[in-house]
Amino acid sequence: MSQRTCLSVILAAGEGTRMKSTMPKVLHAIAGLPMVAHVVKAAEAAGATGVALVIGHGADEMRKAVQKFAPKAETFVQEKRLGTGHAVLAAREAISKGYEDILVMFGDTPLIDAQALAAARQKLAEDAAVAVIGFRPPSPTGYGRLIEKGGHLIAIREEKDCSEEEKKIGFCNAGMMAVAGKHALRLLDKVGNKNAKGEFYLTDIVEIAGAEGLDVVATEASFESALGINNRAELAEAEAIWQTRRRREAMLSGVTLIAPETVYFSHDTEIGTDTIVEPNVWFGPGVKIASGAKIHAFSHIEGATIASNCDVGPFARLRPGADLRNKAKVGNFCEVKQATIEEGAKVNHLTYIGDARVGAAANIGAGTITCNYDGYSKFFTDIGEGAFVGSNSSLVAPVSIGKGGYIASGSVITESVPDDALAFGRARQKTIPGKGKELRERFASAAAAKKKAAAE
Ligand code: UD1
Ligand code: MG
Repeated sequence: MSQRTCLSVILAAGEGTRMKSTMPKVLHAIAGLPMVAHVVKAAEAAGATGVALVIGHGADEMRKAVQKFAPKAETFVQEKRLGTGHAVLAAREAISKGYEDILVMFGDTPLIDAQALAAARQKLAEDAAVAVIGFRPPSPTGYGRLIEKGGHLIAIREEKDCSEEEKKIGFCNAGMMAVAGKHALRLLDKVGNKNAKGEFYLTDIVEIAGAEGLDVVATEASFESALGINNRAELAEAEAIWQTRRRREAMLSGVTLIAPETVYFSHDTEIGTDTIVEPNVWFGPGVKIASGAKIHAFSHIEGATIASNCDVGPFARLRPGADLRNKAKVGNFCEVKQATIEEGAKVNHLTYIGDARVGAAANIGAGTITCNYDGYSKFFTDIGEGAFVGSNSSLVAPVSIGKGGYIASGSVITESVPDDALAFGRARQKTIPGKGKELRERFASAAAAKKKAAAE
């Protein structure tokens, strides 16, 4: 990787009307992360040491979001949208700090990969003044065409300004380019707006640099990596491409996905080797899974940490703060939230564990509920090591069950239970010999009398 300093200027002032959204376009998410944050990540992976975001529409919302995903990025407001060349100059203050490379990128191109950016930067290291990232879309309509001559790029012509001959060119401007920092402001300041749209086109710097006798080249990126998002159908397309890439990466790193096309990752999912993920599993943000775990079908997992050799699902729901230690088991139709399930503990069937600790090797019977909420506050349930909670018990928090404690099925536990104690929290059973038969006879004769009366 080049040691040169690099500023990434990301254009994101557009409104994105076609998203039909109150939220700025570039904040719509892919894999749970705003698309512009994907762009920042790619820039950083390509060696950008500074990030300048040009915002406009929804500036306040944008600033708030940027604070979260790129706290070190600077934001610059472009008051009027006068074109991409004008937009880059909104970040004049950052550009004038003297970076060696300036990477101009679009906030709505979330699949751009670091390699394509690094390849363009490499051209600057080899003394080009401008390196434009080109691509070959299935249909070039709407894109600026790259006009090359003898290995050099001589112009980028916008669709509206193209001759019929130029419209036939399939090699198009992906929108991103690397510009040598020492030339950037001078070239940008020379851009005018005499064109079909009356806009200041960033792309004009190609001809301007050429006229100064500087070297200008084009590099090529894949169509996918240059995919620009304008509406929600394209957003879903980009999501699908992102998921496909991530699934492959997971499999190549040693994770088994039985039906990869049905498993959904978040931008930050961490998953260790020899973990097996069955079909139809959803990973929300903040999931970390160590090695050798089994995630059974139809599980929904977010904000959870899962240690080695855990067994989860089928149909498990792990919510934020679920912390499963080695060999813990959370089975079908169980929900765990903000709770630690310690080593070898089992929560196997139809249970809710929230705001709790389940001690090592404890066994939680089917249908157990931690009653953690009184409508106003949350309370903690502590279950000791090796405890046994009988099926269909309600543990009314705050409450604790000592080590080795034993809870009778169907109990409502409102008082803490000491170590090794047995607690019954239910009415004692009463059995009356012969009473069942007597009741049945009484009911049958009452029904017969009623039928007879109706017939008369
Ligand atoms: C641009 C390129 C075109 C390229 C295409 C690839 C120019 C002149 N044209 O055209 O060659 O093939 O992208 O998708 O650069 N923006 C601002 N402020 C502005 C104008 C634009 O921030 O004043 C932002 C937009 O929000 C967007 C990006 O810049 O993220 C590109 O602008 P857009 O209007 O989509 O340019 P295109 O016409 O698509
Ligand atoms: Mg566009």
